[in-house]
Amino acid sequence: MKKHWWKESVIYQIYPRSFMDSNGDGIGDIPGIISKLDYLKDLGVDVIWLSPVYKSPNDDNGYDISDYREIMDDFGTMEDWELLLKEMHDRGLKLIMDLVVNHSSDEHHWFVESRKSKDNPYRDYYIWRPGKDGKEPNNWKSTFSGSAWQYDENTDEYFLHIFSKKQPDLNWENPKLRQEIYDMMKFWLDKGIDGFRMDVINFISKVDGLPDAPNPDGKKYVSGSKYFMNGPKIHDFLQEMHREALADYNVMTVGEMPGVNVEQAKLYTDESRNEVNMVFQFEHVDLDSGPGGKWDLKPLRLTDLKNNFTKWQTGLEDIGWNSLYLNNHDQPRMVSRFGDDQQYRVESAKMLATFLHMLKGTPYIYQGEEIGMTNVRFDSIADYKDIETLNMYNEKVKQNGEDPKKVMESIYVKGRDNARTPFQWDDTENGGFTTGTPWIQVNPNYKEINAKQAVEDENSIYHYYRKLIQHRKEQPVIVDGRYDILVPEDENIYVYTRTLESQKLLVLLNFTNEEQAFEVPLNLQGKKNEILISNYKTSEGYGSQVSLRPYEAIVYLIEE
Ligand code: NOJ
Repeated sequence: MKKHWWKESVIYQIYPRSFMDSNGDGIGDIPGIISKLDYLKDLGVDVIWLSPVYKSPNDDNGYDISDYREIMDDFGTMEDWELLLKEMHDRGLKLIMDLVVNHSSDEHHWFVESRKSKDNPYRDYYIWRPGKDGKEPNNWKSTFSGSAWQYDENTDEYFLHIFSKKQPDLNWENPKLRQEIYDMMKFWLDKGIDGFRMDVINFISKVDGLPDAPNPDGKKYVSGSKYFMNGPKIHDFLQEMHREALADYNVMTVGEMPGVNVEQAKLYTDESRNEVNMVFQFEHVDLDSGPGGKWDLKPLRLTDLKNNFTKWQTGLEDIGWNSLYLNNHDQPRMVSRFGDDQQYRVESAKMLATFLHMLKGTPYIYQGEEIGMTNVRFDSIADYKDIETLNMYNEKVKQNGEDPKKVMESIYVKGRDNARTPFQWDDTENGGFTTGTPWIQVNPNYKEINAKQAVEDENSIYHYYRKLIQHRKEQPVIVDGRYDILVPEDENIYVYTRTLESQKLLVLLNFTNEEQAFEVPLNLQGKKNEILISNYKTSEGYGSQVSLRPYEAIVYLIEE
C-alpha cells in the first residue's frame, strides 16, 4: 500500500461552538481555539478537523451555511481564521475544513434568489417540484422529522430538504452549481488548508424522478434514503470534484457517508479512482439501534461490534482506508456508550482508546474524549438545543402522544447534545469554557472531569492518549500491519493481532466490569514479547493464559 501522511496521522475534531469561548458571549470561537493549540500540540495530534465556521443562521449549528466564503460572526473574523491557520501550521498541525455541500442554508443568497420565481437564474440550484394531488411531491421523511419537502407559496412549489427546512438540498445535476462549489473549494485550498471533511457527501446524487419510497405500513412519511444515498451519479460527481478542485493540492479528504457498506467504500476510497481518501461510515454506531431507528434503544452485543469492525478491517485491507471513531458531534460520548462512565470511567475510556488506536486506519479523537467526558442528563427538554432532538421530541410527545419519560431516556442515551456540552477545561465556573453564560449548560461533572486535572495527573486518560499517539509514530505495525481477530465468538473480550513482517501486536481488551481469562493460542506462546501499553499496572510477558481485570487493555509487542 502507498504511504500517505494522512495514514500516519491522528485527527482531532473541534466543534467550535463548544470548545473555548474567548470573549464571554457563551459561544466558543476561533480566538478560543488559538488559545488552546498548545494543549492540542502536547496531546500529539497531527490534524484538526474544524466543524463548520462559516456564516450561518445556526438552525443546525453551522451545518446550514449562508455564505461559504465568510466566517460566522459568533466565531470571529476571516483575520482570526487566517491567524488560526498560521498558528496551526507554525506548530506543525494541519487543518481540514468541513465542506457542507449537500445543502446550504435557506438564507444563502442562491436560495433567496431561487425561491423568487421559476425562471430565476438560481432556480435550478435547488430541487423544486410541484405538489402531487395537493400533497408533497413524494413521501420522503426528513432526517430531522416530518416531510422532506417544504411548500413555498411564492411559486406554488415544494423544495427538497433532507435535513431541516432551513437546509434546502442543492441540485448537483446543475453543472453551474457544481462549478460554484469547486471554485469555493479552491478559495479555501488556496488559503493553504490541508483538506476537507465532506458532510453527507454520498447524498448529493438523487435517483431520477425522486420516486416514492415503499410504504407497506401506510405511514405519512418514510425514509427515502435508498433514493439519495450512494445515488446513480455519485462516483461521477466525486471524480469530477477531484479533477476540478482537488487534484493540484496535497490534501486529504474524508467523506462522511451514512448508509455506505464495505463494497461501496472500496469504490469510494480505491486510490486509482480518485474520489476520496477515506469514508466516515456508520455501521458500528447503528448496532445499538432497534428496527425503529436511532431512538429505538437496543443493547449492544460485543460480537456484533467485533463482526462489524472485522468486516471493515479486512474489507479495506488492500484497497481503501478506514476512518476510526467511536464518537463525534453527532454521537453520544464513547465512554458512556461503550464503556462505564461511573466506576470504571478511566479504565474503560483507556480500553476503548486502545481498541481504536491499535486498529488499521486513521483515528479521530472528538474534543473531550481524551479526558473521558461523559453523556449528560438535563432534567428538562427546555435545556436541549439540538434541532434533531427537539424535532423528534415534538413529533413523538406532542404529536404522537408518546411517554415523555421514555423519550427523554432515549435522548439521554443517543442525543447529539451529549457531545455538545462545553469542553471542561478546569474546575472553575462553567468548566473554564466561558466567563459568560454558556449557550448550552456545562456537564455538572466538570469539577472532577476536566483538562487541568488530566494534564496534571500522569495516570490520566489524557496522558494515555499521548502514549497511544506516540506509539503510532514509532511502530509501523500500527499503521500498516494486517488485522486478524482471535476468539471471535467471545461476548466479553475483544482480541486481535496486527502483523507486519516479523512484528506482531497482540491486543487484549476486556469489555466487561468483571475479570475475564484469555487462553493464549499455542502459536503465540513462548515468543519474545513486551508490553507496549496497558491501562493497569501489569507484570511483563504472558504465559499460556492472561487474566484481564475489569476493562483491562494490554497490548503486547511480539518479535517473531
Ligand atoms: C452531518 C453532520 O455531521 C450533522 O451534524 C449535520 O446535522 C448533518 N450532516 C447535516 O448537515
